Amino acid sequence: DVAYVNGVFTPLEDAKVSILDRGFLFADGVYEVAAVIDGRLVDNEAHLARLQRSLDALRLTSPAPMPEIVEIERALVSRNGIDEGLVYLQITRGAAERDFSFPNNARPTLVAFAQRKNILASPAAQTGVKILTVPDLRWARRDIKSVALLAQVLAKQAATEAGCQEAWMVDQEGFVTEGSSSTAFIITKQDAIVTRPNSTAILPGCTRRAVMALADQEGLSVEERPFTVAEAQEAAEAFLTSASNLVLPVVSIDGRPVGTGVPGERAKRLRAIYLNFAR
Ligand code: PDD
Repeated sequence: DVAYVNGVFTPLEDAKVSILDRGFLFADGVYEVAAVIDGRLVDNEAHLARLQRSLDALRLTSPAPMPEIVEIERALVSRNGIDEGLVYLQITRGAAERDFSFPNNARPTLVAFAQRKNILASPAAQTGVKILTVPDLRWARRDIKSVALLAQVLAKQAATEAGCQEAWMVDQEGFVTEGSSSTAFIITKQDAIVTRPNSTAILPGCTRRAVMALADQEGLSVEERPFTVAEAQEAAEAFLTSASNLVLPVVSIDGRPVGTGVPGERAKRLRAIYLNFAR
């Protein structure tokens, strides 16, 4: 496998950064993950716009302009012969003597790699996913796609240990914020698709944005408002969205079946509609 580090394509096992890199020491960096389907990046303009927004929030300047970043991503897809999978891209404030304040002349680090993954014929699309809810322990700027992911790592591990595939994080008022690496949705018995509005409390999901626009085009009603765990458990259906899983039906939350406990018809339809958009 070929990866990219600061201007150089290199075998993955040789792709290394300094132990003084601020991404490693302080999680002082941002990242993006985009899906690859049929060898093409899915909705990449949205991912690059969010990358720029994250960089701006950290007052970080990309070491490569956006058109060059796209070329790097495409080169990784073709050099690795990826038909279906993901491209991961990370920019940190670079390597410098350890000091909390920004270094004066560090060069930002840009790394990227590609992963092969079955996202179209994923088994979870057939079976649906089980959700464990956990308290949202993250910082207050969850709209920035920063590499500080410890709370998400612990949330996902708790889900895994409970036999679930994703964790939904819950704020202090009892409302679901989002999944550890996905956006949370429910569909009410009145047929409304409900998801939390974008704010500093959640990451503005690219898949979320596309699915909402597609749902709207289909004449489905979309409501942006927070929902509680109890409302989600009593909903007709639930689902999640992310670049790495596209749209996946949710079949249970904390052991309680959602709807009839099998993937819902509307969630399956939204997945099909999204796949059609993505290809
Ligand atoms: N995660 N919320 C969080 C906290 C996420 O980490 C992600 C994506 C999403 C969904 O965003 P999008 O639809 O743009 O992928 C929501 C990526 C896939 C990851 O960290 O691997």
